[in-house]
Amino acid sequence: MKANPLTIAVTGKGGVGKTVLTTLMAKIITQLYDYKMLLIDADPTHPHLCSMVKLTPEKSLEQIRLNAVRQAHSKSEDTQKLAERIDFDVYEGMAESKNFCLFSIGQPEGPGCFCPSNTLLRKVLESITKDFNIILIDCEAGLEQINRMVLKSVDFIIIVTDISLRSIETANSIRKSAKKFTSYKKIGVIINKVKGNIEIIYKKLNELNLPIIGQIPDDQNITNYDLEGKPIIELLDESPSLIEMEKIVKQILND
Ligand SMILES: Nc1ncnc2c1ncn2[C@@H]1O[C@H](COP(=O)(O)OP(=O)(O)OP(=O)(O)O)[C@@H](O)[C@H]1O
Ligand SMILES: [Mg+2]
Repeated sequence: MKANPLTIAVTGKGGVGKTVLTTLMAKIITQLYDYKMLLIDADPTHPHLCSMVKLTPEKSLEQIRLNAVRQAHSKSEDTQKLAERIDFDVYEGMAESKNFCLFSIGQPEGPGCFCPSNTLLRKVLESITKDFNIILIDCEAGLEQINRMVLKSVDFIIIVTDISLRSIETANSIRKSAKKFTSYKKIGVIINKVKGNIEIIYKKLNELNLPIIGQIPDDQNITNYDLEGKPIIELLDESPSLIEMEKIVKQILND
């Protein structure tokens, strides 16, 4: 068991494969290690982690927040008690399988921005993560959660790119923001959906001095699972993407 919790945020441009790779990482960690693992679906716009790992939390962070706001307004509980109850409610709202726990940030019910739930996520990350050995956060696409310091306490930032130069430009912007707004210990890129010759991608990443953690092939099994609506967590062990992810996970966790 790891002595200190390791918090890993999976970030990157929209659609590059953040949620799929978070799921593959969770699957490999489950198979290889005996860690108490928490998965966080931190994407309020495309909350797909729950369906990919086939687990649904009872209550989202947004529902817990709204409930707390209602109680504060009705003055049925004092503020101190409310604050204490939020962590408890988060635990209550989590889904649990034999391999990991999961909670989601959720989507706002009405119009409005995601700032309040992101602020609460930052606080929850600081308080509950000590109860786990490893925390994997599937982030919203782009820079928002880094710039708003939601991820300020994470240890490892994984930036996912695909084989487009635009996704690498986003990766570079994320790294710049992360330097300012987080206290990460490690950062690196996983190139996803790799096929054909990607020399240009390597050259660009080297020019920008972005460290490469590994690469995941474009995997027909993932395409088929998505097409048939099957959960990615059940991907066959011999899938090329899982074989590569195993190397990456060992490298990250044995470092
Ligand atoms: N290695 C891969 N091989 C084949 N298809 C992949 C691979 N990785 C991801 N995909 C496909 O790419 C699409 C986007 O994946 P995913 O939802 O994980 O991206 P995302 O970065 O989380 O997107 P969003 O920004 O919307 O949250 C999905 O259709 C997924 O099946
Ligand atoms: Mg996603």
